[in-house]
Amino acid sequence: MLKYESIPGPVGIFDSGYGGLTVFKEIAALLPQYDYIYFGDNARAPYGIRSFDTIYKYTLECVRHLFDQGCHLVILACNTASAKALRTIQQHDLKAFPASYNVLGVIRPTTEIIGNLTSTGHVGIMATTGTVQSQSYVVEIEKFFPDVHVFQQACPMWVPLIENNEHTSAGADFFVKKYIDALLAQSDKIDTIVLGCTHYPLLLDKIREMVPPSIKLVSQGEIVADRLADYLRRHPEIETMCRKTGQYRFFTTETPEVFDEKAQLFYGKAVRSAHFEL
Ligand code: DGL
Repeated sequence: MLKYESIPGPVGIFDSGYGGLTVFKEIAALLPQYDYIYFGDNARAPYGIRSFDTIYKYTLECVRHLFDQGCHLVILACNTASAKALRTIQQHDLKAFPASYNVLGVIRPTTEIIGNLTSTGHVGIMATTGTVQSQSYVVEIEKFFPDVHVFQQACPMWVPLIENNEHTSAGADFFVKKYIDALLAQSDKIDTIVLGCTHYPLLLDKIREMVPPSIKLVSQGEIVADRLADYLRRHPEIETMCRKTGQYRFFTTETPEVFDEKAQLFYGKAVRSAHFEL
């Protein structure tokens, strides 16, 4: 355990690939002072279609790798990893690490506030198949807002459309509308929709055109950033372990050139990454 010492390190931001950059963008905007390592497991993405066991195994491996790089705090900026791996990592694997190590996800920050945004109490969740199957949003929202009704829709075609930069094309309209219609058919009282996948903020404009104007669309980046700032205020023992020199580094399990080319779409500016071998 000597390796895991009390030396401040970067905050780790983990995602299956590029999508977590939409979350990291907002974290860096709100908390620019910290050092960050963004780590995308692009070589094994997408996670959204994989089994519980596989996602848990991959995510744990990546979290350990970030701890080995000096991170004390790791954010799973991936809904699928948050849904299928976070609880087991928090309850089981973190026990082997000192108390200054922690892993947080993106689902809880969203579910903590979602009941305050809906007036009808009918909330829609659009996410990957894996996240929907995990029932994580349903279970978490029930804890904070037991009166809220949750309706879910898996959108398996959206990640490939976005990763192939086809999400603004006319051809994308069919699949965007298909899943929105399927969600809204479950309840005519839905007034709030959570974009419960890191990629979906890129579809925001198109989704906006296809839903009634009264429906609120909720992207997670700003919520996660805000809740992280609050968490760091409440946990000085972790905050002091987050180094503050404003250095941001990007790593991928894929070829860096491929990562850098697509990353801009999600991060909004150019990125220079390096390869991580697991
Ligand atoms: N990052 C994933 C999520 O937020 C989407 C991409 C994937 O399926 O790997 O669920």
